Amino acid sequence: MVKVEDFKTCNDSRFCKLHRQFADSATKASKADPQYYVKKDSVAFADNVLSARIVNSQKNIDLSLTATFLEQQIVRLRIQEAEPIKPRYQGCGEHVLKNGEAGLLNSSFSDYNLSIKNSTDGLTTHVLHFGKNSQNHDFTLLLTEKPWSLSILQNDKPTIEVNSLGYFNFENVKTHDSVSSVSPSNKISDATENTPLADNSTQTNTDVKHDETFKSWTDSVPNGPQSFGIDISFPGSSNLYGIPEHASTLSLKTTRGAKEHYSEPYRLYNLDVFEYLEDSPMALYGSVPLILSHSSQHTVGLFSMNSAETWVDITKNQPSNILNLLNKVVNRSNSASFSSSHWITESGVLDMFLIPGPTPKEVFSQYASLTGTTDLPREFALGYHQCRWNYLDQDDVLSVNQKFEEHRIPYDVIWLDIEHTDSKKYYTWDYKKFPDPVFMQNELAKHGRNLVNVVDPHIKTDPGYSISKTAAQNNHFIKNKNGKDFKGWCWPGDSNWVDYFNPESLQWVSEQYSFKNYHNTTSNLFIWNDMNEPAIFNGPEITMEKDIVHHGGIEHRDVHNIYGMLVQKSTFEGLSNRENPPKRPFVLSRAYFAGTQRYGAIWTGDNTADWNHLQVSIPMVLTNCLTGINFNGADVGGFFGNPSSELLTRWYQLGIWYPFFRAHAHIDTKRREPWLLGEPYVSHIRDAIQLRYRFLPYWYTLFYENKQTGMPIARPLWVEFPENSNFYETTTQFMVGSALMISPVLSEGDVVTQQIKLPSQESYYEFDTDYSVPGPETLTMQTPIDKQVIFAVGGNIIPTKDRPRRSSKLMKNDPYTINVFTSMRGEAKGSLYIDDGETFDYKKGAYIYREFSFTNATLYSKDATPKEHIDSDSQKAFIETIKDIRVERVVISKMYNSFTKAIITENGVQREVEVTCTSKNKTKCVIRDPAVLISNDWSIQLVF
Ligand code: NOJ
Repeated sequence: MVKVEDFKTCNDSRFCKLHRQFADSATKASKADPQYYVKKDSVAFADNVLSARIVNSQKNIDLSLTATFLEQQIVRLRIQEAEPIKPRYQGCGEHVLKNGEAGLLNSSFSDYNLSIKNSTDGLTTHVLHFGKNSQNHDFTLLLTEKPWSLSILQNDKPTIEVNSLGYFNFENVKTHDSVSSVSPSNKISDATENTPLADNSTQTNTDVKHDETFKSWTDSVPNGPQSFGIDISFPGSSNLYGIPEHASTLSLKTTRGAKEHYSEPYRLYNLDVFEYLEDSPMALYGSVPLILSHSSQHTVGLFSMNSAETWVDITKNQPSNILNLLNKVVNRSNSASFSSSHWITESGVLDMFLIPGPTPKEVFSQYASLTGTTDLPREFALGYHQCRWNYLDQDDVLSVNQKFEEHRIPYDVIWLDIEHTDSKKYYTWDYKKFPDPVFMQNELAKHGRNLVNVVDPHIKTDPGYSISKTAAQNNHFIKNKNGKDFKGWCWPGDSNWVDYFNPESLQWVSEQYSFKNYHNTTSNLFIWNDMNEPAIFNGPEITMEKDIVHHGGIEHRDVHNIYGMLVQKSTFEGLSNRENPPKRPFVLSRAYFAGTQRYGAIWTGDNTADWNHLQVSIPMVLTNCLTGINFNGADVGGFFGNPSSELLTRWYQLGIWYPFFRAHAHIDTKRREPWLLGEPYVSHIRDAIQLRYRFLPYWYTLFYENKQTGMPIARPLWVEFPENSNFYETTTQFMVGSALMISPVLSEGDVVTQQIKLPSQESYYEFDTDYSVPGPETLTMQTPIDKQVIFAVGGNIIPTKDRPRRSSKLMKNDPYTINVFTSMRGEAKGSLYIDDGETFDYKKGAYIYREFSFTNATLYSKDATPKEHIDSDSQKAFIETIKDIRVERVVISKMYNSFTKAIITENGVQREVEVTCTSKNKTKCVIRDPAVLISNDWSIQLVF
């Protein structure tokens, strides 16, 4: 059971408590009487930036507000001291934005114009029209002066509102010699309820400290309190999503207000939480400060680019006097639902990107334009990963490998946890257990299989360990307050941590992955970075003290949530550079942040082998996908505890639909490789894993499309059916791409029937059976242990490879099956991306992207490669390598009459082939061996 007392609640955190109290006093105030407002005559618009000063009359606070207009109508809002005593940390963008700060493209601003409106109630509003999107939606920004608030309007309707509840509250940066009368400890006196913001008058008093204590730790808060709080609301919306990582529902629960579901805010602070709860807003290993709002009218988002500890309260229809006042200038329907988020952040700049949508697709593309997408993974990484803490030795690894052969279960990767090392010294082997690691890797490689080794970021303090010695000598370790190497406890005992904020240190670690440095590794070995929050067993909340200072004077407080991402980045670079020509790396990380998607996969950490954790894995994985972290999954089977055979089987059936599919187990659990379950379970697990492999072409294409567009790979139903509000909270069913709707079995025992809802007026086809049914509909289906219900949605075409093999590599030259699922109008479309699966040559054009369409009873395959690559030599050379790969079958599922033959046209030559319509109502027709080539243009016309 999690030790909740090891982790802070909002009340244990001075700044969280302070801002909640401020919000309460703003809500309770009898009239809209704002402390903060826009300074008269301070609003200006120049060079694509709207600027204003926000002041607080009672306190000595003068803030600069800027709103910058970026591509795709994204608005970047920044607030910080106008004349800071000490500048706040500004470096987040360098790590988080895909091309750093310099890479942000401003939109053209030639036709923007700023005007002033004065309402009869004395409200002064600045109005800026900032353009239209491709669908002719008109976007406007409103800035009211007193109270200050900022709204984004789409076609005159507000979609995102900033500070319309009046929760904005800002603590000026102080240093020990410019201090306030703030209470010197983390205890907030009752008096602060009424005057919640500290007086910021600058007195000189070097004795006043801002120490905060939690349990036995004291945080010296050297720059004094510098937190801020702000509310961001979403008019017309009742469902908010995002802000992973939490083990909780997909649609965020309320945390304050009349009907609060949680009493604590959602917390974003990367932490190692032992045996985490399955329904809680507590912080976990990763953080993405991106919230999405969806309603049938529009989808929008808010990305807070800040890597300090953050708490987010969620309210619905929260009363506010300020809002009532603003209603006079904003064209809002009073009856519509109104969801709000209150962001409470400890330090750094208030730096928020208002993401205007208005469709889900646009929101994903807008967010991707900021933090980037996942480059194509190694193809094998989409296969099945077999992990355990620990495979005991080389013989164990090879015998598990052999058992997969015997049981004809495909798999691609076997993993070694910390026990493979010499005394937890990473980059080493325990040669007693692994006498010949290269032999072992080569044995695995014989069937195209790979090895992943864990490399944690704590480095055993040991002058006899060359990594430790070199890092110490070259100042690669984080320093403590006395300027000595910071030391803490982790798996090896006394350990040090590399300062990844020093680019030279990051580079040095990345070089440790070279074949020369990391002995006995081959190009078949990949890396798992665990414990990188960082987990420090004897640190506050099992992590690093906030007042530790990194390279360049960066306080850990400001960058805590980025640390883990830099660990993964360093590994990503190391693996990318270890071969010439380079090959794509594969790195799994536990900690993550916005931008992590560029460096590899993550998993949801140490879950438990019970049905609740099976269930919560779905919203966790989907939420990660919604926030850009697509390559993710949960430990299949549950990490802690021993799953029953039934639970484990059901977990495999679900796990094949996680973008990252790995089974893992704690060292104290019983062995649970699939064959140990015996029949019938092993056969059901084999069936499930084989199904994953059949769909690998579809998965790989989804990864390509995600890279291009930001569209999530696994998707909540609302992304595909945005207008159907019945599915805004659904996680018992979800989508993989636009074509597959998965309805996993999520509970135990005699529940062999399942209720399945078909969300749209479309044809639905059960995959691999002859059953099809028009939606919308609620079905009751039998789901005995050998079955989970998978529907293909009419209108989609899915390429598969149907020959069972031992690993993805061995499927490389296998022929394809093209599965056509026609829509109610008898049409369908789909796509297929193919490249070599391992090099970066795709960047030069060494790939093909095919578009399939089915219309007028004819299936077409056309080249859809983006134009600039069509004639490249690289593409031609690549096509040469796949030129013999055929389509071995076309399966057409349809809701109406049957066909007898088909006319194939390829390279200008026509031939006739037989069509067999098999099912009872002849609704499934098969063309066996049409013998068309996958890289060619062709058509197959069906004839009645
Ligand atoms: C914690 C990780 O979350 C878990 O997956 C791993 O097995 C252990 N550390 C041991 O390395």
